[in-house]
Amino acid sequence: MVKVFINGYGNIGRRLASALTKDKEISLIGIAKYTIDEEKLKNLKNRFDVYVPENLVHKYKNSVSGSIREAVSESDLVLDAGKEGDGYSNKIKLYKPMGKPAIFQGGEERHGDKAVAEMIHNSRVNYHDASGKQYIIQGSCNVSGMGKIMQPLIEKFGDEIQRFDVTLVRRWADLEDSKEVKDSIQWDKNPHHQEDVKDFIPHAKLYVEAFKVPSRMMHLHQMVVRFHSKAPSKDQILDVFTKEFAVAILNSAKGTADVRMKAIELGFEHGDTNMVHIHQDILRVQGETLKIVYSDDQTGLVIPENHLLLQSMIMRRPRSEAIRKTDGLFRISEKKRILEKEFG
Ligand SMILES: NC(=O)c1ccc[n+]([C@@H]2O[C@H](COP(=O)([O-])OP(=O)(O)OC[C@H]3O[C@@H](n4cnc5c(N)ncnc54)[C@H](OP(=O)(O)O)[C@@H]3O)[C@@H](O)[C@H]2O)c1
Repeated sequence: MVKVFINGYGNIGRRLASALTKDKEISLIGIAKYTIDEEKLKNLKNRFDVYVPENLVHKYKNSVSGSIREAVSESDLVLDAGKEGDGYSNKIKLYKPMGKPAIFQGGEERHGDKAVAEMIHNSRVNYHDASGKQYIIQGSCNVSGMGKIMQPLIEKFGDEIQRFDVTLVRRWADLEDSKEVKDSIQWDKNPHHQEDVKDFIPHAKLYVEAFKVPSRMMHLHQMVVRFHSKAPSKDQILDVFTKEFAVAILNSAKGTADVRMKAIELGFEHGDTNMVHIHQDILRVQGETLKIVYSDDQTGLVIPENHLLLQSMIMRRPRSEAIRKTDGLFRISEKKRILEKEFG
């Protein structure tokens, strides 16, 4: 049994927690809560052991299992799922002094003074490189999605590809967030996604622009792939993705909300599909250019990615076996079949 602690219980942490409680190879030590009240604690403590900062342990002693520091010291691995930027101080104050390996989320820094890790993981590209490492960032939802589409194209068409230009249309907030969704289309002067993807696909000529739009549903990416000569046919492109894990090919969705609402209607846990969805009705091949559009389940996509990553890091398991295990836990192949039928 691998003992895992989840430090941060927001949109990502809560999904990690519900997935890991179902994994019989993992003993979930518990979750961290930083902002608490008795009401919240009452609900949480029925499901998990809850750990809080040391200064709150005494106040909530009847409802919590101890301090975050104690939970980290008991664990074999920490899944850090705190607000963007919290990972660095957690690493310096807790994980590093105690020698505990940790997985960080995509909002953390890969370079500079506050870098938390030496690699960004994408299960489609560098799963095996994670084996035995101490600190790794799981790429963000946008970065994970780009890797899932780019890598199969690179493997199939290699040097025939000249460059990738990607426009990320990003949701403003998640469905569970209480923050206001502003009526604006906001651009990003320096999208981190470009350098993040280059961390695991260094040789690709990749150019990324990102726009945040007033939506809570999903991200949508338009990837323009330029070939040196005539681009492959639409059927050749779709063939590449038919059997891809966590990539569905849909034909009749009209927007990101259709996919999200269908996942909720079908009772998928947390309303997640846990994958990217290529919209083949707007996949265009024009001369030397392929335009591929896919929606990206922002909250769900990275949860199986974290699960795969921990199997590489801690269990040193071969990728095919890890995929089987993760698929069993998240029912990704089954969800893919269902969505492809629903949007056939
Ligand atoms: N949301 C997404 O779609 C998404 C997708 C991919 C990756 N990510 C990345 O995942 C990370 C978490 O995002 P999120 O959306 O889950 O954020 P979130 O919903 O804002 O949750 C962040 C959580 O961090 C907790 N926290 C506060 N101080 C902390 C500390 N020092 N250490 C650890 N946790 C602390 C907060 O706990 P309290 O509630 O108790 O205050 C809060 O629940 C970010 O790096 C983000 O970029 C997010």
